[in-house]
Amino acid sequence: MESSHLNDDYDSSLPKEKWWGNLELHQFHGYWFWLPSLQAAQQIKNNFRPLPTDVILASFPKTGTTWLKSLLYSIVNRSSKESLILNHPHELVPSLEIQVYPHHLPSSDISADNFPPAGSGIFNTHLPYQFLADNVNSSACKVVYVTRNPKDTLNSMWHFLGKSKSPETKPWTLDVAVDKFCRGVVPFGPYYDHVLEYWKESLEKPQKVYFITYEELKNDPKTQVKKLAEFLGCPFVGDDKELEVEMVVKSCSIETLKNHEVNKSNDSPSWSPVPYNSFFRQGEVGDHKNHFKSEMIERLDAITREKFHGSDFMY
Ligand code: A3P
Repeated sequence: MESSHLNDDYDSSLPKEKWWGNLELHQFHGYWFWLPSLQAAQQIKNNFRPLPTDVILASFPKTGTTWLKSLLYSIVNRSSKESLILNHPHELVPSLEIQVYPHHLPSSDISADNFPPAGSGIFNTHLPYQFLADNVNSSACKVVYVTRNPKDTLNSMWHFLGKSKSPETKPWTLDVAVDKFCRGVVPFGPYYDHVLEYWKESLEKPQKVYFITYEELKNDPKTQVKKLAEFLGCPFVGDDKELEVEMVVKSCSIETLKNHEVNKSNDSPSWSPVPYNSFFRQGEVGDHKNHFKSEMIERLDAITREKFHGSDFMY
């Protein structure tokens, strides 16, 4: 990343486009960002030195991040069963660009001594792989990437943003949302480039980057949880292993999580205009069919075929 681009005057120098309400995105190295995310990306690049034991959960927004946060936390910390009852998954596994290296933090406050916060161990990011590659490759840390069918991803994003309490935003039509998504103008987008970068890295470095889809998890959560635990170097063993896996799957199911008081809260976290309860909606595969017109589906399918063609990965 050319750090010289990331300074106070890049506002005027980067291509920009309105995305949602008055919110503008800026294009940098082929991807679209809110300015605060770009500033955070610079902080992360300069300061984030993952420990060999750290796990980085990477994802495009609305692809199952909250679910994976819960699962990874439960797999790694098997004894702390209360944590998921008492804490929202986003507080247990903080976002690097939103919670750990927020844009408003002066870089003088960020030092290797106090960042990342001690004891976290699992971090989430929506940054594209190229923005993190130097950091993660300088450490033995592991990366888990989750993705999801683009139509369900966009459908989920559209519903999620509809819950925003921000005065800057206004009702957002699905037509506009689809058009922006198809053109790649979406935070951390284009979605397709984001997915393919991590997909290629997972093929080249399978011990380092684990690639999983939301649909695989829905289809057979127990098998996927076992595989994740093996990848992270903490497999389920012993006579009770099936029971333990079952408990992890159950405690992280959307039905269970939705009913914890902390996840029912209509308050918004300090770091988001969208309330805590908005991170849990339906959790189904294929809900876009209930909302998208057939021409939207055709347009998205055509782009998906074109973008993923030849990559060995397809939705
Ligand atoms: P829907 O809007 O389709 O229901 P993210 O966590 O990346 O923001 O993604 C949010 C999507 O994941 C939402 O999808 C949400 O309902 C779903 N989700 C959240 N927790 C889940 C869980 N434990 N199991 C399955 N899906 C979950």
